[in-house]
Amino acid sequence: MNINQLIDLKQKGEKIAMVTCYDHASASIINKTQVDMILVGDSAAMVMHGESSTLPITTETMALHTASVVKGAPDKFIVADMPFMSFRKSLDSNMSAVETLMKTGAHAIKLEGVAGNEDLIKHVVQSGVPVMGHVGLTPQSINQFGGFKVQGREQAAQNKIIEQVQTLSDLGAFAVVLECVPAALTEAIAKSCDIITIGIGAGNSTDGQVLVMHDLLGYPSDFSPKFVRKYLDTERMFKSAFNAYVNDVKGKKFPNKEESY
Ligand code: KIV
Repeated sequence: MNINQLIDLKQKGEKIAMVTCYDHASASIINKTQVDMILVGDSAAMVMHGESSTLPITTETMALHTASVVKGAPDKFIVADMPFMSFRKSLDSNMSAVETLMKTGAHAIKLEGVAGNEDLIKHVVQSGVPVMGHVGLTPQSINQFGGFKVQGREQAAQNKIIEQVQTLSDLGAFAVVLECVPAALTEAIAKSCDIITIGIGAGNSTDGQVLVMHDLLGYPSDFSPKFVRKYLDTERMFKSAFNAYVNDVKGKKFPNKEESY
């Protein structure tokens, strides 16, 4: 999958399916599925490292996750997330973070918010790197929002999100993630938006959807927003496999003759 094929999907009105992924083994499985696009999200901080927000993860750690996903999923379009503060310093330092992530083999970068990022987005696009924006609930601003809350309920907030999407499009971004915004707002945006819209908790009118891999696979979580649909009960399956193994070990049934040298 490449950027032109993604744009083609949008133009044909075919939905785009994106999932997050952070490791080589899972990426190798996703590579054999019909998933179109992978996001190596900074949600890695929470689901892979047990942090309570996305803030602690560094560019170097994101680069390690991205490199392992790139090697596992050579057929997929891979977007690397720019972590907290990695794009809010000098243009030099911001571009170094972009370079570190892109040199892992990612095909695009994603960054949260718009205000203050305009020059960087323009520069990154002019450097040949596709940019995906992210508006609505931007988890790196969790301390300003006071929690993981739906954004864009009031008219002023809706106008701001509409403007942000337009600005991203004007700056040359190829796509935008709309997170946790009312479905009616998404519908209004998606109607006139000429860049790819990807939703998460944003209704069904975007060009595509993204879900955190661990959420859709049903890994246990303290936080389960209503937009998550679980396609597997991974906790139950893992527990049953581990307990079957323990029973075999304790019952002296593992290893058997065929499994021994
Ligand atoms: O980091 C992430 O997983 C994300 C998605 C929730 C869009 O940014």
